[in-house]
Order: sequence, then C-alpha cells, then structure tokens
Amino acid sequence: MLILKLVRSHGTNNFLSLSRSWHPNVSSVFKSLKNVRFGQNIKTHGRKVGLASGLIAFSGYQIYNLVHVKCEVGHHGDSDITEIISPKDEPAFSKENEHKHFRWSRIWAFIKNDYILLFISIASALCVAVLNIKIPLALGSIINDLSKYIQGTNQWSITELIGEIKNPVYTLITLYLLQSLGTFINISTLSIIGERMALNLRIKLFRCILDQDVEFFDKNSTGDIISRLTTDVQDFKSSFKLIISQGIRSITQVIGSAVSLYSLSSKMTLTLGLVLPAMVSVGRIFGYYLKRLSDECQKQIAKATEVANEAIGDIRTVKAFSLEDREFESFSNEMALTNQMNTALGIGIGMFRGVTNLALNQLVLGTLMMGGYLVSIGDVTPGSLMSFLVASQTVQRSLAQLSLLIGQYIRACSAGERIFEFIDSKHKIPAIGGMILSNPSGDIQFNNVKFSYPTRPGQEVLKQLNLNLKPGTVTAICGLSGSGKSTIAALIERFYDVDEGSIKIDGTDIRQMNCRWLRGQLIGYINQEPTLFATTIRENIRFGKPGASDEEVYEAAKLANADEFIKQFPDGYDTQVGERGLAVSGGQKQRIAIARAILKNPTILILDEATSALDASAEKSIQQALETVMKGKTVMIIAHRLSTIQNADIIVVIAKGKIIETGSHQELIKKKGFYYNLIMQQAQAYES
Ligand SMILES: Nc1ncnc2c1ncn2[C@@H]1O[C@H](COP(=O)(O)OP(=O)(O)OP(=O)(O)O)[C@@H](O)[C@H]1O
Ligand SMILES: [Mg+2]
Repeated sequence: MLILKLVRSHGTNNFLSLSRSWHPNVSSVFKSLKNVRFGQNIKTHGRKVGLASGLIAFSGYQIYNLVHVKCEVGHHGDSDITEIISPKDEPAFSKENEHKHFRWSRIWAFIKNDYILLFISIASALCVAVLNIKIPLALGSIINDLSKYIQGTNQWSITELIGEIKNPVYTLITLYLLQSLGTFINISTLSIIGERMALNLRIKLFRCILDQDVEFFDKNSTGDIISRLTTDVQDFKSSFKLIISQGIRSITQVIGSAVSLYSLSSKMTLTLGLVLPAMVSVGRIFGYYLKRLSDECQKQIAKATEVANEAIGDIRTVKAFSLEDREFESFSNEMALTNQMNTALGIGIGMFRGVTNLALNQLVLGTLMMGGYLVSIGDVTPGSLMSFLVASQTVQRSLAQLSLLIGQYIRACSAGERIFEFIDSKHKIPAIGGMILSNPSGDIQFNNVKFSYPTRPGQEVLKQLNLNLKPGTVTAICGLSGSGKSTIAALIERFYDVDEGSIKIDGTDIRQMNCRWLRGQLIGYINQEPTLFATTIRENIRFGKPGASDEEVYEAAKLANADEFIKQFPDGYDTQVGERGLAVSGGQKQRIAIARAILKNPTILILDEATSALDASAEKSIQQALETVMKGKTVMIIAHRLSTIQNADIIVVIAKGKIIETGSHQELIKKKGFYYNLIMQQAQAYES
C-alpha cells in the first residue's frame, strides 16, 4: 500500500480523491496504482474505510470523515504531499509511524484524575439535552390550554384559565431553571477539566522537549516547537471542550427531538426528514468553501505576522541595512492581501447567513402551512404544532452544531497528533541513568571517531579522528573555519553520539556515563556564542553552581576579569542582561560565561573561542586568571587567534575533520607546515 505523508493537515483541505490529475506529485504515483476506484476499501491504520466514507460523502460529512481516517491516498489543493512514508511494497504503517495517528484514548492519562468532574460534566450535558427536548412539549401544553380558552371550547373564566395553566407554567419555569443550572455545571466543570488537561499536556510536552537530543532542535524550528506548546494545546483544549459539551448535547437532542417530533406528527416529521438533510448538506457545501477561505485567511495572517515578527525580532539588522522601507512595504502588501481576503470572507459569511436565514424561515413557514392544514383537519392540536416548531428548531440547531463540531474534531485530531508526535519522540541519549565516575582525572580519548550531523548525513565532519587530551594539560585546537573544531567539543559534551569509534573519559565510554553528571559537573563548556538567560548577572553566573554563595559568585567574576565592569553598572550584579544577553556587550557576555564556568569548577574545561570578542589586554588578563583556574584540569581551547594558544602544552591542527599536525608551538613552527603558514598569514594580516 502507498502511504503519503500530509505535511500540513488543514482539516477540510484534505479529502479522498482518486482523480489522477489534481496534484503533480501524486499523479505520477497514481500511475503505479492499479484498480483504484472510488469506494474501494482503503486500509488506514488497520481500519477499513472507503465505501462507507464514500457514502457519508454524499451527505456532506465526507470531507471531514475522510480527513479523520487520514486517507493518505490524497491531498487536495495547493500543497503539500512531499514525502512518501512507505514505498508501495512496504507495510502501510511501521511501528515507528504508528504514533503519528492520534488516539483519543491517550488523553485519558491527562484527565483521569478528574474522572468525577468528567462524569458530572457528561451527565449535566445529557440532562440539558433531555430538558431541551422536554421544553417544547411543555410549551405545547400551555399553548393548547390558551387556544382552548381563545376558541371558547372550555368556557373558562380568566381565573380558571390561570389555575389551569399554572402547573404547566411552573413546569416550564422549573425546566428553564434546571436547564440553566445544568448548563452552568456543564460549562464550569468542563472548563476545570480542560484547563487541567492543558496544564498536564503542556508540562508533559515541555519535559519531553527539554529531554530531547540536540539533534531534535536541529531538525525542528523554535517557532514550531513553541507553537505545539501553545497553539496546539490551546486548539486541542477548546475542541475537546466543545466536543464533550456540544457533541453530547447535540446528538442527544437530535435523537430525542426526532422521537418527540414523530410522536407529535408523523406526517410532518417524515416531510421534515426529507427536507432537512438536503438543506444541511447544501449548507455544508457552502460551509466547506467558507472554511477553505477562512483557512486561507489564517495562513495569510500568519504570513503577515511573520513579516512583522522577523522585522521586529531582528530590528538591528533591519536598521543596519536601512531595510525599514522594504520591510514596511512588504508588511503593507501582506496586510493589504489579508484585508482583501478577509473582506471576501466577510461577504461570503454574510451571504451564507442571509441565505441560511431565508431557508430556515421558509422551513418555519412550510411547517406552519402544513401544520395549519393539519390543525384545520383536526390531525394535530395547535399546541402540538407549536411544540413541533420549537422541537424542529432544536433539531436544526443541533445538526448545524454537529456539522461545525466535525470541523472541531478534525482540528483536535490534528493538534493532538502534533502534540503527541513530540511526546512520543524518542531521544537516543538518556538524560538519566548511567555511570558517575568517583574521582575523575579527565583523560579524554577519541578512538577512530567518525561523525556526521544527523541533519546532514552525507557530510562526514570528523573522519577517523584519534586524539588524547591528558589531565593537567592544555590542548589547543586550531584550523580553518568549518574544519570541525566545535564539533569535537560538542561530541565531548555528548550533544551527539559518534557514528563510529568511541570517546572515552578515564577509560570509560561516555555513552555509558550519566549524561546530566557529564555535562553538569564533569565538563565546563563555554561555547562559541555563549547565551545568557534573561535575568540578573548574579543569577547568570550562579547557573554554574546552583546554591553558590554571593562571595563565590564575586570570586568567579573577579577571576574572569568581569567584576570591574559589573560593578560599574548602576545595578551592579543585579543588572538585567536582557533577552539572550542582548543588553551587555559581546566581550562582557563572554566574561560572564567564563565566570559561570569557573564557578562550576569542572574537571574538564572546554573554551570554544571563549575570548574572541575581547581586546588584547582583557584577553591577556583573563588568560592569566585562567591559568590558575586551569591547574590540574584537562583543558581544551579552540581559537582562531593563534597568539592566544602559543603557551598550550599541545597544539592540534585540524583540516576537514582530520588531524594534520600536532606538537608544541615551537615544534610546529619548526615543521613549517600548515600551522606555520597560518601563523604567517595572521602576522601579515596584523602588519597590514
Ligand atoms: N548543527 C549542525 N548541523 C549540521 N551541520 C553542522 C552543524 N554544526 C556544524 N555543522 C557543519 O559541520 C562542519 C564543521 O562545523 P564546526 O562548527 O565544527 O566548525 P568549526 O571548525 O568550529 O568552524 P568555526 O571556526 O567557523 O567555528 C561545518 O561544515 C558545518 O557547516
Ligand atoms: Mg566553531
């Protein structure tokens, strides 16, 4: 079987179409599919759909139903089949893909603590539905009494009439009161369940995201991750609440009201039974096109927002390149298009509402005419006609709500799928468990390491790398940009696992070690672009050793040559560094990051271009300070400015993922190889 992945699932945009021409990518695929006919059994997720779905299609609900079963045979419209998940001779769904289909039962884990509330909520929805069925009947009996009074059949005085209709009126008032109480209980309990479910989902999702490997963040954009945490959970919650409250109410009301309609007048019910589904189907088709238009509008709004987002998020670049006018123009254009589309949508909705009102009024008029005739021949009472009118309105409203709910159901499925895709995402590097070395010395050994980034498997970044970093020594790594220096640091931190070979610390493979301990205590790593969190300088340094005293923080800052500039800020150590540390200079940021690493006092210290943003004198004083800190540790320094690594015990030169030279500064100079040439180039550049 052939399975195509729907990269975007916009609800109503997806439907089963077995035409061979509507999508360029798919038409070629269809050529290889023989005997595919509409109504054919199509197995998706182990379920047989197809013929049944085809029949439902006729009633106008098809569009949604097929999306629900995710008929991965086709996707209509402007996008988005980009990938064949399983080639046609492979099993339809491998275990790996199974999680992509959202199972509603999985939500139980997130609401099971509120099962009593859920029960109350469902029960109250059912009660409201039953009351809504009873209200038209109670109304009918009042009308019957009134009409008898008006026609003079019973010769009642006004007092007798009031006495007569008192009970039905009390019944009606009680029904109304119970109905509003039921509605209150239903909505409030559902809100509590919905909010707790969203909270549980978000917490679980956030935990799963935090535990993912770095590879996961290479593959998924920040925007996408955040939108799953926010929009998708929000969408799921709203749809879930609607499905539980309105779904139960509407289904019960349709069934209950249909029964009472039939008991009131079988003739009128049968006539209505023919007219109403036809009307709802026509309405659905209208609704379908409006929904598509609305989806397009949403996409367009997202596009316009993205333009604004980009411009404001990176305002410095915009200003530096004087791009204000260009950004303004592109935002204005996108907004103009948004305006056009929204206007068209508004007019469409207006027309839809107008036509719907007309049709519904015709329905009322038709019922009145037919009912009037039946009243005149004594087939139904005026009260029954009144009850019939109100009950038929309830059915019509409930059917309309149900058809809207199907859309909500699709939304919930698609949001649920996106949420659980991340929750189910397996990380290869376990965050917990594994060995903790008792007295590590920090001897690092790379053995025949081969490595490619998971997002770019074709590019081998490290090739058969053998390297030993000895305890108590400083190893410097240098080489051209892109040669693989930062990758070596990332592998020691175990941000990624090697493809072949191994990395051992004190003879133990790092894959057997406890990752939190390895990163949190054994290694101190200052990366090429250190990031600060949006809090005070004091707290940023304290991240190195949670629970460290203020004195320890100041001491680390002094060693990192940061104390002086920090004290010059009006708020000193309590200065806020801004989002991603944007409110301090690059060199200041680096010094805060160094202080953080010093406070951590790790066995292994990795400095990746850690002082690149500093002036020569600041760099020199930090180096002197670091020399004290570095004593007895395994230190790896990555630097472009070769003057900063001359004192290293050993210098390793890397080119295209391979070590091409090693030795001390003097040895490498004598060798007159790659390192020597680099030194010469830098000296010349400096002189010129
Ligand atoms: N997250 C990533 N995903 C895919 N490829 C990556 C990733 N990070 C780096 N690379 C690629 O791996 C190669 C080595 O990159 P690396 O960052 O190790 O270079 P580097 O020697 O540190 O360079 P520089 O001196 O510019 O910092 C480069 O070709 C780079 O494009
Ligand atoms: Mg680098």
